[in-house]
Amino acid sequence: MRHILDIDDLATPELVEILAIGRLPVGEVDQVLAGKGAACYFAKPSARTRNSTEMAVVQLGGHPVYITDVEVGIDERETAEDVTRTLGCFHDVICARVFEHSVLERMAALNVVPIVNLLSDGAHPLQAIADVFTILDEFGAGDDPAQPLAGRVVTYVGDANNVARSLGLAVGKLGAEFRIASPSGYQFDPVDLDRLAASSVVPVVSDRAADVVPGSDVIYADTWTSMGQEDEHAQRLRDFEGFQVTEELVAEAGERSVFMHCLPAHRGEEATDGALDGQQSRIWVQAAHRLTSARSVLAWLLANQANDGA
Ligand code: CP
Ligand code: NVA
Repeated sequence: MRHILDIDDLATPELVEILAIGRLPVGEVDQVLAGKGAACYFAKPSARTRNSTEMAVVQLGGHPVYITDVEVGIDERETAEDVTRTLGCFHDVICARVFEHSVLERMAALNVVPIVNLLSDGAHPLQAIADVFTILDEFGAGDDPAQPLAGRVVTYVGDANNVARSLGLAVGKLGAEFRIASPSGYQFDPVDLDRLAASSVVPVVSDRAADVVPGSDVIYADTWTSMGQEDEHAQRLRDFEGFQVTEELVAEAGERSVFMHCLPAHRGEEATDGALDGQQSRIWVQAAHRLTSARSVLAWLLANQANDGA
């Protein structure tokens, strides 16, 4: 049974298959969830992920059920394993947003139904696939269908977090150069770098944005304080000084460069209004592609599951 906990659960040709599903008109995507349920579990808040996942389930013929931790209480009211077995009685897929990535690994290890990561402290794969759709819209695919982002340079400025990990894996596996500028203490650790290397992704790493921005096609930012790190907010504001993305910084990348942000934005912290709302911003294209991403991933995963079971 296949699960999507991060981008490296997918071989590059499988990622390319998912991108192809994303190019289909909605009405031509197989109704892989017809008459079936999809559990959408959230231990943290969400605007884009909940709405895009639920609407994707509907577009695939299924019925989404939104579940919060207040109800199921993973590892408090019941173990993650028992919650998974329970939801598996009613649903053909469990999509889950959790704090600890290891919770998803425990759920997936049971192989009850496919598990899809809707964000953990480790990864945000559906965001990264939406980001790839956005970059392809902007720049088109290269000549090599197996490496549609070949020749592109994607540069992330800020915390080497869940979003950065999945983004690096996704764009790197599809042929782009991935660069990242983060302050000391907030960079990829050796385990992250090994995982990227296992997918043949070798990022250009710097502790100065100015080193990596020029020549980039995409400048990407995310919050400096992820969900669950609120207690560190004041310290992080100090530590990330000098890593704010401004309209001027995006312009330094080049005239054709675009600015991306997974949102929610903390305006005036990791990015200015000028960057977020400026001409080079593509943040709303990106947000809309969360639906393309959720639909394509679920369609691919459930079709794969049906073939496995046949
Ligand atoms: N980008 C993203 O995952 O947004 P939400 O937290 O609103 O779902
Ligand atoms: N890194 C952020 C992403 C939010 C979509 C977080 O985990 O809170």
